[in-house]
Amino acid sequence: MNLPPAAAERLRSAVLDGLLDDPKRLPSAYLYDTTGSALFEAICELPEYYLTRAETEILQRHAPEMARRIGSGALLIEPGCGSGEKACTLLQHLPEPAGFVPIEISPSALDGARRLVRERFPQLPVHPLQADFTASFSIPDAPPASRPVFFFPGSTLGNFDPAQALTLLRRWRALGRQALVGVDLRKDPATLLAAYDDARGVTAAFNLNLLDRINREFGADFDPQSFAHEAIWNESEGRIEMHLRSRRAQTVRLDGRRLAFRAGESIHTENSYKYTVDGFAELAARAGWQVAAHWTDSQARFGVQLLSA
Ligand code: AVJ
Repeated sequence: MNLPPAAAERLRSAVLDGLLDDPKRLPSAYLYDTTGSALFEAICELPEYYLTRAETEILQRHAPEMARRIGSGALLIEPGCGSGEKACTLLQHLPEPAGFVPIEISPSALDGARRLVRERFPQLPVHPLQADFTASFSIPDAPPASRPVFFFPGSTLGNFDPAQALTLLRRWRALGRQALVGVDLRKDPATLLAAYDDARGVTAAFNLNLLDRINREFGADFDPQSFAHEAIWNESEGRIEMHLRSRRAQTVRLDGRRLAFRAGESIHTENSYKYTVDGFAELAARAGWQVAAHWTDSQARFGVQLLSA
């Protein structure tokens, strides 16, 4: 993952602040070290985790129409691009794109995306931006006539609470006139809960890996066995929450302190908001966007919306 020193330091203080807070919490971005990123890839293959397959179905089926609606001269900007694989599906169909701007905090992931897109589209100008997309940024090397189009698939927006999501959508609205955003849709809680608490325990391992990472990076002595992975559907907030629940009263050594846990006390590790098509349109409208088109998979589990200014 090799984060740049400033980003590593910010994440480190967010971890400490969160664990010293009441209730305890951890930044969900901390889930993605090398092991966590590999576990997330494994999650995407699980029978219960329908999100990735549903979105891939939508992108593969409707990319030609999405590309037509976006039109030529688009400068495709992907905050948190990861491998860059999804952008390729869209770029394949985009008429005369002006360029691709992958944004990633992790230099190794950014370099991977740059290489992949270079290899698949040798003629396309790629302008990698190594940055934390939750902070404000400006678009690098944008040719003056190009039209910035934001691409934010994967339900990553779901990790942000409505106020934070609004901030992101507004910032992109200030920089561009179109955005393509993928969000997971509300559905029966049993399906949602299974997606975040799979039978093989891969999601549990993904969540518990946070404790191994803290042990490694902070010299802490968490015993992962004494914490349980938990997924909760929070109906009033419209979100799945992941928690690590202490199986017993215990103290943990962390950064020269002793951190006390009551039996049953939890660390809140992630939110994953689930939208309705109308609810998402309302949020987008508050950020100055209109939903120009939206697509769902054949089972209406996931939604991709094309926003226009
Ligand atoms: C990558 C944020 C979309 O919230 O569904 C998967 C992360 N957490 N299983 C999601 C995740 C638990 C995932 N996102």
